[in-house]
Amino acid sequence: MRFTIALGLPALFTLGGALSVPSDFAATKLKRQTPSNTTTTKSVVAHHIVGNTYPYTVSNWASDIALASAHGIDGFALNIGPDSWQSARVADAYTAAKNAGPSFKLFISFDMSVLPCTTAANAAALRNYITTYANHPNQLKYNGGVFASTFAGESCTFGQSSVALGWQTQFVQMLNGNNTVYFVPSFFIDPATFKNYNNSFNGQFNWNSGWPISLTTSVANSQLSSAGTSLNNLSTAGQNILKGYIGSTSIDTNYVNNLKAMPSNGKSRAYMAAVSPWFFTHYSPQTYNKNFVYDGDWHLYPTRWQNLVSIRNQVDLVQIVTWNDYGESHYIGPIGGAQPNSQAWVNGFDHQGNRWLYMTQYFATAYKTGSYPAITKDQIFLWARPHTRNATSSDSVGKPTNYELDQDQLWAVVFTTAAANVTLSTSAAKNQTFSVPAGLSKLNMPLTVGGYMQGSIMRNGKSVVSLKPSGYTFTATPSSYNYNAFVAYST
Ligand SMILES: *[C@@H]1O[C@H](CO)[C@@H](O)[C@H](O)[C@H]1NC(C)=O
Ligand SMILES: *[C@@H]1O[C@H](CO)[C@@H](O)[C@H](O)[C@H]1NC(C)=O
Ligand SMILES: *[C@@H]1O[C@H](CO)[C@@H](O)[C@H](O)[C@H]1NC(C)=O
Ligand SMILES: *[C@@H]1O[C@H](CO)[C@@H](O)[C@H](O)[C@H]1NC(C)=O
Ligand SMILES: *[C@@H]1O[C@H](CO)[C@@H](O)[C@H](O)[C@H]1NC(C)=O
Ligand SMILES: *[C@@H]1O[C@H](CO)[C@@H](O)[C@H](O)[C@H]1NC(C)=O
Ligand SMILES: *[C@@H]1O[C@H](CO)[C@@H](O)[C@H](O)[C@H]1NC(C)=O
Repeated sequence: MRFTIALGLPALFTLGGALSVPSDFAATKLKRQTPSNTTTTKSVVAHHIVGNTYPYTVSNWASDIALASAHGIDGFALNIGPDSWQSARVADAYTAAKNAGPSFKLFISFDMSVLPCTTAANAAALRNYITTYANHPNQLKYNGGVFASTFAGESCTFGQSSVALGWQTQFVQMLNGNNTVYFVPSFFIDPATFKNYNNSFNGQFNWNSGWPISLTTSVANSQLSSAGTSLNNLSTAGQNILKGYIGSTSIDTNYVNNLKAMPSNGKSRAYMAAVSPWFFTHYSPQTYNKNFVYDGDWHLYPTRWQNLVSIRNQVDLVQIVTWNDYGESHYIGPIGGAQPNSQAWVNGFDHQGNRWLYMTQYFATAYKTGSYPAITKDQIFLWARPHTRNATSSDSVGKPTNYELDQDQLWAVVFTTAAANVTLSTSAAKNQTFSVPAGLSKLNMPLTVGGYMQGSIMRNGKSVVSLKPSGYTFTATPSSYNYNAFVAYST
């Protein structure tokens, strides 16, 4: 899924807007256990693609760290690929974290979809990253080890007779003393086979748990037709069928149960779950050759978070996928660094600036403490795609696989301090009003071609918050396909 970008990119880049650190949710002090050299409290980290940071300086890392920390994120998983310049960016990230104090943690997430892993020397290169940062004050330590993860790696042998022996003998067992790793890779394997890797990893990261990846168009069509409905005209029963896939925790339970069935080898087996707001990637066969969506409708991001909070006892860490993967449209951080030729569907589609990133603080706090923070301010979040699902365009890359799943709906989340009436509008003539209680409500209504997105919270006949972002029109005639989300937020 990951990929490297060309070397020698021009240093042309912009970093996201000014750093602002609002704190509209009541401050919640996290109870950390008494000081120790290990972290066993729950952490929320975000996946940071170092491959997209070619032009970064220490100061860019410092901005990202400040922004993430201010929104309930405890650390970054640094996704590294083979480019030789990436080790210097990793060093800068650790320097920036150290400058910010001891609380923000980093760890390496080896991107085994692009790193070589057939020889013992390939493993030595990975170990070098671990030993370089093992004693750094901002290295995430977990259960007495140096926390390390991956994207993939289920085919790596490092010259050994099996994958299990490759990771065990060339990576895990060669790292001792202060360099001992606590290894939580995301192997794309059947969890029932974890028991073949008793000594190869300590836990697992369930990368694909962030999206309902089993929900393809054909699965949806077959499920919906047996309920007498379809993706083109969904009944309420049909909506409930689709919603059943959104943020589902059955894949988490399967991982947790299979990790529990492994011998602990003296250390509990950590389960790291994923949460992600969206997925759309649009590369032609001549470039990265990936052009598909996962269903991000039905309020995927807040729903997945709510479900993770509900099973928090089984989830040791949560990883947000991602901070800055522009190419797959699931970034919650600023648009900055060097994009992997994703400008066509990313520029103008800022997901942070207190949008999905801001919502993150609320859920991350609930996940870590077990209680949702008090809502002290009325807020609206709106998001939608820029063009109709069925739009046709001269874009030679074509529509993304599974685009049929996407509904032409405006998605809204409101945080309300007391009961209110919320009106959503998608044109001057199309609106819906919802009566909501105090708390978080997830709402939606059909988009209107040529229309906009608007939301307002009314209480006792008066508007208390209203949001109508500029720069958004829902069109049926896009110049190219873009199934990314435009996200807006208003206090
Ligand atoms: C760090 O943690 C390990 C594993 O729990 C323990 O054996 C070791 O004594 C600890 N070291 C310090 C300095 O606390
Ligand atoms: C190993 O860790 C201990 C405890 O944190 C520390 O005192 C010691 O300096 C470390 N050893 C090395 C070689 O860095
Ligand atoms: C791993 O441990 C489980 C539980 O003890 C055991 O059933 C299984 O045979 C072990 N696997 C290997 C490959 O040793
Ligand atoms: C989208 O296309 C499908 C398949 O041709 C069609 O059934 C559906 O009615 C269209 N939806 C809209 C909103 O035009
Ligand atoms: C959509 O389904 C409803 C029943 O759920 C039906 O009344 C309506 O005619 C259908 N609309 C179209 C365009 O097929
Ligand atoms: C809602 O739509 C109706 C027409 O359907 C219109 O008269 C009214 O002004 C709209 N209200 C809002 C708040 O846009
Ligand atoms: C919502 O609107 C209804 C109908 O106008 C009104 O009776 C009710 O008081 C409103 N609720 C609030 C909280 O303002």
